[in-house]
Amino acid sequence: MNETVRRVGIVGIGNVGKAAASAIVHNNIADELYISDIDSERAKGEAWDFADSIELTSSRTRVSEVPLEGLAACDIILVAVTERSEIPSSSRLELLKGTAAITYDIVPKLRKVGFKGKYVIATNPCDIITYLFYRLSGLPKNHVIGTGTALDSMRLRRQLSNVIGGVDPRSINAFMVGEHGDSQIAAWSQVTVGGQPLDQFEEDNFDEFGPIDRDQVEDAARHFGWEIHKRKGNTQFGIGNELAFFAKSILNDARTVTAASVIQNGEYGQHDLAIGVPTIIGRNGVEKIIRFRLNEKEQEGFNASAELIKSYIKQTLEEHEESAAK
Ligand SMILES: NC(=O)c1ccc[n+]([C@@H]2O[C@H](COP(=O)([O-])OP(=O)(O)OC[C@H]3O[C@@H](n4cnc5c(N)ncnc54)[C@H](O)[C@@H]3O)[C@@H](O)[C@H]2O)c1
Repeated sequence: MNETVRRVGIVGIGNVGKAAASAIVHNNIADELYISDIDSERAKGEAWDFADSIELTSSRTRVSEVPLEGLAACDIILVAVTERSEIPSSSRLELLKGTAAITYDIVPKLRKVGFKGKYVIATNPCDIITYLFYRLSGLPKNHVIGTGTALDSMRLRRQLSNVIGGVDPRSINAFMVGEHGDSQIAAWSQVTVGGQPLDQFEEDNFDEFGPIDRDQVEDAARHFGWEIHKRKGNTQFGIGNELAFFAKSILNDARTVTAASVIQNGEYGQHDLAIGVPTIIGRNGVEKIIRFRLNEKEQEGFNASAELIKSYIKQTLEEHEESAAK
């Protein structure tokens, strides 16, 4: 039998890493799950705790703790590292200094041991960290994927569902695009409900639902993460499942459409950054970027978001290139 072993790694086994590990193990997404953290003893404890849960699931995933270099043979590495002292802040961009330093530490090490698989990155600020992974890893563009606005897009679908009579969010096609942060925007011109453009759906059902307050729905989607963060100090289950979903889409070559932060080739008029856009995810990582024809207002919002990401990328590269040159 030609056995194909599905190997997934997780670097950073805090709140998000643990939720991702749980989703991977309990949904039988990998045959082998490798966990790595700078705190190797805690990571070992987590791995052993997961191993204890396997017999009660339909999965046979073997879970083990490894040093960073032990992730080299993985098909996919899920990235959920951050400084443990991460303090609640009003912007994900404030986390950049700490997470950029970790990125500059771990990516060259994984490159050196020959990691050739796919990275899926949750670490914030997600778009900038995704770009740094691309730049430092030497991997092709399609191998480096940030979760970007994937979770925000699910929130958008749910918020919209709430104001149109509870239509199953899975029957709604709606995406947040741009930065995984305050500057993201809803691509309203592209939204469909059961394939029907939202404007038509709204017109046909006006007597029942009245006008849709798009600004309110969009704002609620944009800020939902903070509403969770304010109450429990982190978010983990949505993003943990999101990471596992990306892993499954790659391993199963599912060619699922999702928002993701991916390196741009001019599809939206932007180059040399990672930013959230609808993508098709399959065996090769990013199979395709779907190019929405945004309206003028949306394109302006998207461009502003892209400029913000680019300014932070520039600043980070300057800081690190300068200190490397000294
Ligand atoms: N993209 C999203 O939608 C989304 C949602 C939620 C959280 N996040 C982000 O996910 C990241 C993780 O959040 P969390 O709540 O799990 O944090 P956490 O503090 O609970 O866990 C972070 C882990 O990273 C480990 N770590 C730190 N430096 C390391 C290194 N050099 N090598 C290996 N491991 C290292 C820490 O020991 C810790 O276990 C954060 O950047 C957070 O902002 C993203």
